[in-house]
Amino acid sequence: MRRAAIENLNGTVKKLEGKQEYSAAKKVQRIIYSMYKSVYNAILRIVTIILEVAAVSWLSLYYIAEAIILSITPNSLRNLKSLRGRNILVTGGAGGVGQELVIRLAKFKANVIVWDINEKAMEQLKAKVTEEGYKIHTYVVDLSDRQNIYKNANIVRDEVGHIDILINNAGIVCGQPFLEVPDYMIEKTYQVNTLSCYWTAKAFLPSMIKRGSGHIATVGSLTGLLGCYNCTDYSGSKYAIIGFQESLWNELKARGHNGIVLTTVAPYFINTGMFDGCKPSHMPMLEPKEVAKRTILAIRREEFFCSIPGSSLYILALKNYIPTKLSWLFQNRVFRLPQAMQTMRKFQEPQAA
Ligand SMILES: NC(=O)c1ccc[n+]([C@@H]2O[C@H](COP(=O)([O-])OP(=O)(O)OC[C@H]3O[C@@H](n4cnc5c(N)ncnc54)[C@H](O)[C@@H]3O)[C@@H](O)[C@H]2O)c1
Repeated sequence: MRRAAIENLNGTVKKLEGKQEYSAAKKVQRIIYSMYKSVYNAILRIVTIILEVAAVSWLSLYYIAEAIILSITPNSLRNLKSLRGRNILVTGGAGGVGQELVIRLAKFKANVIVWDINEKAMEQLKAKVTEEGYKIHTYVVDLSDRQNIYKNANIVRDEVGHIDILINNAGIVCGQPFLEVPDYMIEKTYQVNTLSCYWTAKAFLPSMIKRGSGHIATVGSLTGLLGCYNCTDYSGSKYAIIGFQESLWNELKARGHNGIVLTTVAPYFINTGMFDGCKPSHMPMLEPKEVAKRTILAIRREEFFCSIPGSSLYILALKNYIPTKLSWLFQNRVFRLPQAMQTMRKFQEPQAA
């Protein structure tokens, strides 16, 4: 009896020892597996990083080479966007740069649609363009009024069709010291210069996305890269529109809408009357014809950002690398920008004719 009990006990001990060995072996197996998994994941990560670095390096070199080659290739050898038969809408197309854009686009045999608040100027432009045998559609639109923009976008869609190229050109400036700018003018400047571009994009972008192609070009300003004297409202509105375009572009790219092209044009002073009385000391004002010509070229080349003149972009970028006081010294004593703006005429609100 005693013997049987001892044997029983021995059996139980052996069983327990067997179980312990089994669970120890399992433990070792688990440790080895998790080590294998960690090493495998680490190798996978390293390989992924190497492939990613190789792809980014290759694409970086490719894009730099492409940009260099494109910048030195004459336009005659480049595959420029055709404007013939395209529905192109120009806001603020009855005056200044807008009018020059419309005339040139019509000569490219585009189907031009003009939105402007100045009915009389638009009628004169329509007569001129039609007389020369080109197509033009004109609509009186107040770009400071969102509902008016949406209403006319529907009318244009019904009467003309989808828009291939939208050119946000309309702009206004007050040109007064900050504390003298009436509140309603600050609001109006943002409505015309900035917010109207949001509403036109909302109105026309969906059909561009649906068709997988389209182009939104916006006329900004160099004051959207360097805030200048007596331009708190104007400069702010132009900085905002540059940010809007850049952000929208990123969004479209990230969503794979690669057929939609965005172009921002940032000109220096233009001799249209907008900055009447200003006396820039180093460089004469640009002529609206040359700004229109360069803007159309930027659209045809599908440029993302085009400063006019081109060199201004590099000069203005310097402000990010030099001391602020030095930047002010250059503005005030070398380029004499505040002095140039001080002689600007007082703002007059654009009137519907
Ligand atoms: N003139 C410059 O020195 C200069 C410099 C840099 C950038 N820009 C920009 O170039 C673009 C064209 O300027 P411009 O010099 O030809 O101006 P402009 O004043 O000669 O013409 C602007 C046009 O916009 C229209 N407009 C104004 N308010 C409107 C509204 N509420 N609704 C509809 N239309 C309206 C006007 O009737 C006019 O036809 C603007 O965006 C301007 O900010 C001008």
